[in-house]
Amino acid sequence: MSAALIIDAAYFAAAFLFIYGLKRMSSPVTARSGIVVAGWGMVVAVLASFLYTLDVSEAARPHLTTNMVLAAIALVLGLGWAWWSGKKVEMTAMPQMVALYNGMGGGAAGAIAAIELFGHKTHGSIGLTLAVLGGLIGSVSLSGSLIAWAKLDGRINKTLRISGLQAINGLLLLVTVGLGALMVAKHGDVTMAVIAVFFILALVYGVMMTMPIGGADMPVVISLYNAFTGLAVGFEGYVLNNPALMIAGMVVGSAGTLLTLLMAKAMNRSVKNVLFSNFGAAGDDGDAEIEGSMKPVDAGDAAINMRYASKVIIAPGYGLAVAQAQHKLYEFVKLLEEADVEVKFAIHPVAGRMPGHMNVLLAEAGVPYDIIFDMEDINNEFKEADVAIVIGANDTVNPAARTNKSSPIYGMPILNVDQAKQVYVVKRGQGKGYSGVENELFFRDNTNMVYGDAQKVMVAMIQAVKSLEGGGH
Ligand code: TAP
Repeated sequence: MSAALIIDAAYFAAAFLFIYGLKRMSSPVTARSGIVVAGWGMVVAVLASFLYTLDVSEAARPHLTTNMVLAAIALVLGLGWAWWSGKKVEMTAMPQMVALYNGMGGGAAGAIAAIELFGHKTHGSIGLTLAVLGGLIGSVSLSGSLIAWAKLDGRINKTLRISGLQAINGLLLLVTVGLGALMVAKHGDVTMAVIAVFFILALVYGVMMTMPIGGADMPVVISLYNAFTGLAVGFEGYVLNNPALMIAGMVVGSAGTLLTLLMAKAMNRSVKNVLFSNFGAAGDDGDAEIEGSMKPVDAGDAAINMRYASKVIIAPGYGLAVAQAQHKLYEFVKLLEEADVEVKFAIHPVAGRMPGHMNVLLAEAGVPYDIIFDMEDINNEFKEADVAIVIGANDTVNPAARTNKSSPIYGMPILNVDQAKQVYVVKRGQGKGYSGVENELFFRDNTNMVYGDAQKVMVAMIQAVKSLEGGGH
């Protein structure tokens, strides 16, 4: 069997594993194994690239050893860094990590384009066009993702707002695309300086495009860059005549696009609005005067009230993840269920700090999927609930999103917890949510605050119900 045939077969297998892995990721039950399957696809694809060494041209032979050593160093560095950072990353820091990995993918696509363009390796107009487009999109994705990472990680707190920024960005993009078009028109026969300026401007554009986008919009931006990276990788796959890259790029590109649209819809924003309006910038400009007062209650009293309720709906949020209170929460839920209380979880699509964050947490604690509901499936049920308990959530239950036009979260659909007869909010103190706005829910007549770390509160609630049962027998 020729080396080329083995390589093609290996790429086919890798592509199959990517697609099959993604399919398994579509359900929480099979998602973990889906990630492992796709990981094996990546192993096959990486190993397949070493098979090229079986069939190198005479001209390339003298460089073989050096290139193999470089590839081995790159692999060890990449594997080591990914293993170490993957092991130590906190669940709440996952979006930053995704942004960083995304940027690496875009950077890799940009690097392939750079090798092709600087080395005059690509000739046909289609190949050149795709190399240039992949280079542009990959570079924008690299620098944009790095800014997104720095913002999410709290390393950049500024949101760039200068008048005329959109016009400057438009001009920047126009010049970059113009240089790319020049490269294609001249069949790649341009000076090194033109190519270098093209890449530098693309990188600057990524920075300028991401700097004005703030706060709550960052997850949408990351998933958009994810889609960009997929597209760039797919284009470069065509340039390199590598089917596995093409397929992987298409899979990432389409999955990223769908996720971007879904998240934008969940926040009731158009992608254009996210990118060009500065709207999601964190700030407390939108706080209106709020009437009423926050009324604290004891965790034990709240727990006993829930023990005698017929229906309780739980709205978990970021604070549950910070406190790692999911196990204790489920223990409490089981106690309520034993007392014949109907308990359901209501999941807001952007609760926490990454898509699916709450589902992952609850799955980790063993909460059965049939009591976990997406927002649109449960929002009508709050009015029938005796108690809605909000645990470490804030923005996703803020009624200002419905009514206060000047609020940064205005228009975002929220969980209708305020419609329950009684609302308990578990949080440590007066801390605001991700968007930095005050929450009028906390001041409403039917709301009581249960102050404390979510895990400690859950322990107290469990104890209260248990001591009641103990005393009752
Ligand atoms: P948030 O609005 O972020 O509010 C979390 C609340 O948890 C805070 O008010 C905080 O109040 C409380 N808290 C923190 N640590 C706690 C602890 N140990 N125990 C108890 N409570 C604790 O949460 P959310 O409702 O989940 O909303 C998510 C927000 O993040 C949205 O604005 C969303 O747009 C944004 N975002 C989402 C994503 C994705 S994709 N899910 C990614 C990035 C950003 P105290 O300080 O008073 O305790």
